[in-house]
Amino acid sequence: MNSSAVLSSLARRYAASDDLPSTFALDSLFDLLEGKVAIVTGGASGIGESTARLFARQGAKVIIADIQDEMGQEVCREIVGDGGMASYVHCDVSSEADVQAAVETSLRSHARLDVMFNNAGTVGEYRSHLDFDRSDFEKVFAVNVIGVFLGIKHAGRAMASTGRGSIINTASIASVMGAMATIPYTASKHAVVGLTRDAAVELGHYGVRVNCVSPNYLASFLTSSFLGMDARAMEEVTEKCSVLRAAALKAQDIAEAVLYLASDESRYVNGHNLVVDGGYTTTNPSLGAHLFASSS
Ligand SMILES: NC(=O)c1ccc[n+]([C@@H]2O[C@H](COP(=O)([O-])OP(=O)(O)OC[C@H]3O[C@@H](n4cnc5c(N)ncnc54)[C@H](O)[C@@H]3O)[C@@H](O)[C@H]2O)c1
Repeated sequence: MNSSAVLSSLARRYAASDDLPSTFALDSLFDLLEGKVAIVTGGASGIGESTARLFARQGAKVIIADIQDEMGQEVCREIVGDGGMASYVHCDVSSEADVQAAVETSLRSHARLDVMFNNAGTVGEYRSHLDFDRSDFEKVFAVNVIGVFLGIKHAGRAMASTGRGSIINTASIASVMGAMATIPYTASKHAVVGLTRDAAVELGHYGVRVNCVSPNYLASFLTSSFLGMDARAMEEVTEKCSVLRAAALKAQDIAEAVLYLASDESRYVNGHNLVVDGGYTTTNPSLGAHLFASSS
């Protein structure tokens, strides 16, 4: 870790303390995204919202692109109220015209685009393989796969000519294992990894990096609605889906991973799927817990 990363990490640690006045004031002493412009799709809530706030604290001009206009605009107002820079565009990521317009907004307003966080996602309803409707399957793919494809395409076009840029796509632990969510969700998140790897080769040629992040379960509107649980019950699920007993996964943990991929701290990381799961998908937690209990 270089000195700016150490300082940034210290700033964030101290910013979490209640003794200190403002998270924004402290984080902004160490600006990993100073002067950069970032689009965050699905930035009106959950992981996208948390990332938009962190990006702004790290000096980025943030454009939130979402379909929940009031919520997105409110997040922007709060970021600006805290001294950051943020604006909102209505953007349904399954619409090519909307995604293209969001990228054009960035170029028109700021004359650049440095970071594209293709994060908007949907899960659909749980059904068996034997009953799943084709149209319901396609609805999830339209957002989770076509949305990411369009984000890579239009952000990639804007970035390629400048010889720099970072595109980050939100996949999921459902990109590396099955039966974690709905059928199209699992398939779509595997597809996000494929898109990421493919684009990393072509855009890497222009100096643009493409990576994805794969969160474990965390409490958000998406998971609560899919599982029909409130935030507290969701936290219990997230604790069960982790071999780390320290704490439940939070949106802020994913935002920190995305910040790393967005910033120059990760300048040689390309085509990577950064799994943020507390070790869940690379271990056998149930057998591990059994062996641990019998040896102690
Ligand atoms: N919460 C989890 O446990 C979890 C785990 C792994 C991956 N993910 C992924 O993280 C991403 C964010 O999910 P979240 O958990 O923060 O949920 P969330 O519901 O809080 O946020 C999703 C956001 O995407 C927006 N969105 C949905 N469809 C859109 C569209 N067509 N165009 C533009 N915006 C749209 C929503 O309005 C919302 O603001 C998703 O891609 C999701 O699949 C979530």
